[in-house]
Amino acid sequence: MIISGKELALSLKQEMAQEVKTFPEKYGRVPQLTVILVGEDPGSVSYVTGKAKASAEVGIANTTIRKPATISEEELLGIIDELNNDDAVDGILVQLPLPKHIDPDKVIAAIKAEKDVDGFHPMNVARLWLKQDCVLPCTPKGIIKLLKRANVEIAGKEVVVVGRSNIVGLPVSKLLLNENATVTVAHSRTKDLASVTRRADILVVAIGKPKFVTADMVKPGAVVIDVGVNRDPETNKLCGDVDFAAIEPIASAITPVPGGVGPMTITCLMENTIECFLRKQK
Ligand code: GUN
Repeated sequence: MIISGKELALSLKQEMAQEVKTFPEKYGRVPQLTVILVGEDPGSVSYVTGKAKASAEVGIANTTIRKPATISEEELLGIIDELNNDDAVDGILVQLPLPKHIDPDKVIAAIKAEKDVDGFHPMNVARLWLKQDCVLPCTPKGIIKLLKRANVEIAGKEVVVVGRSNIVGLPVSKLLLNENATVTVAHSRTKDLASVTRRADILVVAIGKPKFVTADMVKPGAVVIDVGVNRDPETNKLCGDVDFAAIEPIASAITPVPGGVGPMTITCLMENTIECFLRKQK
């Protein structure tokens, strides 16, 4: 089975659009997401365009602030401060990566935690690990939704997550633990990685290397979640971390790239923006 994130994303966005339609009457306005893009990295431009497109589909007001790569850290922090204090702004997102002269940790920490729709702020990260109410990071949240929609049982299963980044590997491991899976976090330096990944009932790969996971690394019948977004060096086409053609026949379910986890990330960003908006209405 191929788990389509595109399909689930579409139906979730349609449901959110129905909900958002009721907001002007209930609350006097729709949610507002402000995205800051520094520089002109083509990947970042494409992500930011996707976020604006999804906002339009859901009925969320989207402002994209574009600044040159030469902007100073001080000026960027000043813009964030203004947005923090603007009651009409519900969500703030600074597209990463940032130019080298800007400290991303400082920028992420400057965003008010209540408006941090990425779920990257240290307070949201801490709340996640303490099992407290927080903004969940979009990709991990999207992965759990995909597994549930595909009726994959998580409780009691052996999960192996390959990758330990702050954005995906670590938070998705925590969310899977919360679902009562037994979770192993592996990485590119794990010794005999194949013997570890072969134990997985559910294998989540977020390592950022094309075709990193080969057929010998997957237990027959496993569920494989591919978080990678890479360019295939041979075809220059978008591809994941998993050798899809080799593994699709042996996995019981697998997410494709594109059309798997990616669309869910943006959908969860929309959901987070609505959640931040609604928390303010109480
Ligand atoms: N760059 C790549 N992915 C992301 C993301 O999820 N959020 C932000 N802010 N930047 C990114």
